[in-house]
Amino acid sequence: MCGIVGYTGTENPIPILIDGLKRLEYRGYDSAGLALMNKSGEIKVFKTKGKVADLEKLIENKEWDAVAGIAHTRWATHGAPNTINAHPHVSGSGDLVLVHNGIIENYSILKEALIQKGYHFKSETDTEVLVNFIEDVKKESGKNLFESVQLALKRVVGAYAIVVMDKNFPGQMVVARKGSPLVVGIGKDGDYIIASDAAPIVSHTKTVYYLDEDELALLEPGKEMMVKTLDNKLVTPSLTELDLTIEQLEKEGFEHFMLKEIYEQPRSVYDSMRGRINAEKKQIKLGGIESYENHILESDRIIMVGCGTSWHAGLVGEYLFEELARIPVETEYGSEFRYRNPIIKPRDVVIGISQSGETADTLAALRLAKEKGALLLGICNVVGSSIARETHAGVYTHAGPEIGVASTKAFTAQVTVLTLMALRLGYLKGTIPQERYENLLQELENVPDKIEQVLQKDLIIQQVAREYKNAKNFLYLGRGINFPVALEGALKLKEISYIHAEGYPAAEMKHGPIALIDENMPVVVIATKKGNYDKIVSNIMEIKARDGKIIAIVTEGDQQVAGLADHVIEIPESDEMLTPLLATIPLQLLAYHIAVMLGRDVDKPRNLAKSVTVE
Ligand code: M6R
Repeated sequence: MCGIVGYTGTENPIPILIDGLKRLEYRGYDSAGLALMNKSGEIKVFKTKGKVADLEKLIENKEWDAVAGIAHTRWATHGAPNTINAHPHVSGSGDLVLVHNGIIENYSILKEALIQKGYHFKSETDTEVLVNFIEDVKKESGKNLFESVQLALKRVVGAYAIVVMDKNFPGQMVVARKGSPLVVGIGKDGDYIIASDAAPIVSHTKTVYYLDEDELALLEPGKEMMVKTLDNKLVTPSLTELDLTIEQLEKEGFEHFMLKEIYEQPRSVYDSMRGRINAEKKQIKLGGIESYENHILESDRIIMVGCGTSWHAGLVGEYLFEELARIPVETEYGSEFRYRNPIIKPRDVVIGISQSGETADTLAALRLAKEKGALLLGICNVVGSSIARETHAGVYTHAGPEIGVASTKAFTAQVTVLTLMALRLGYLKGTIPQERYENLLQELENVPDKIEQVLQKDLIIQQVAREYKNAKNFLYLGRGINFPVALEGALKLKEISYIHAEGYPAAEMKHGPIALIDENMPVVVIATKKGNYDKIVSNIMEIKARDGKIIAIVTEGDQQVAGLADHVIEIPESDEMLTPLLATIPLQLLAYHIAVMLGRDVDKPRNLAKSVTVE
């Protein structure tokens, strides 16, 4: 939800900022802009509606001896996605310039007060209000930039990550965060690069500081960073070394990040298990939650909280935990949970699932559960993210950076971690027969190879995509643990192809959706051998009787469904509890190929952003 980058130091900021914006573009792509400052304090701002490529064209051949710069790629919240509303925003006097990720909730009250004082606004944004508010506080208090930002933010309600420059102090930057992420990269030559995540930073330095909630930092090239809290407490920053490579952030020959990430799944699933599972020794070790295992086993229930794909992973987790560990589980949307006064007791365990670790609704739901005394666990992909830091304990997914807006490898990594957790708890609780436990461990270790085999079905999936790319609607059906997989398949298709798609438990079809079925309705059915196979065969018959087109995901060698379906995509046999890890792959590929054939911008689908840091 908006990406911000800043650079101050001895290098030319322009390529650093543009490259940084490109790496953050997944966070929003409604408009892009940058502001440069030279050593005399002159400021130049360039901004445009559209993508970073448009900004790049705008600044082509515009050489300037800038010493610092800030840049922004926007996902519009307040005001239309046009050039005027694009960041950076400059204060009325022209002294301050600022980029912002987040939402200032009390902006209209602040704006009204500023208008009364004679301030004028060009844009509809909350950000232009913020920069003028800081300017006003600075004028009235006579304080320096750092102190003025600190004072102003104390009166701001909402979420923000900001970078501010003041023309009176060329090269100096003040950064602050609350609710939106911000990372400060500390260069060897005393320069600083700031960004919403580590991706723009890693090619410059691996030493970073993840700014904490309610912290501000003063950055001046050649000088040590000063970090304080909003309440003016001095913080000794604990620096982190990034475990990230440039290669992980490149497409490496794939046409899109999404395709690369789909193909990375044998590796990312393996990495999510590496060092945690040992089938030979019949052991699972989850270091992150080890000291909480008894607490979890004694809990009354587990609540999974997430949004979008992560919510689907939570639903899969619900089946896994209930089946294997016999612990009652409820799965909740972060957005619903936080606003419905949920009943949470200290003997509840709440698991927050999030690729980014920054999703506002998931984070708020977790904070609420924490206030009510629940134990919080996190399943996050981004190391050092807010959810990872605010939970009591957790297990990282180790999927590597996911850049495509549509979540793919993060989902299978989340399901892998949930499977490990359910198995470990079931083992400790004695709710899984030893033989099944050992088989599941063995089978889980085989999953990466089996995903590899599913990926080899890509040509068949492309043919199916070609045949149905012009369909107006799709239905996805699954039963049991594959019901959430149907939901996930439908979400993948709609978000990147813009074709309407719905996922349903197969048996629910009779209660309404069957009315939609005719010869124009492709129905994707997950019909693997073990889970309720006969029941799903009956559902397929019902679709066929109404001329629906059946695309079935079946277990290798299946004859019965193959005889009924219009198309079959085979996946290797596995324990039913592990089929989501395999059945998801063809659905990701189907969505991908349809979207590409329709000419969609697969990695940056319209209206979406990768990291939803606003509610
Ligand atoms: O970073 P998170 O996992 O918390 O993100 C949650 C959703 O915003 C995300 O899964 C979204 O639904 C994706 N676009 C799905 O592909």
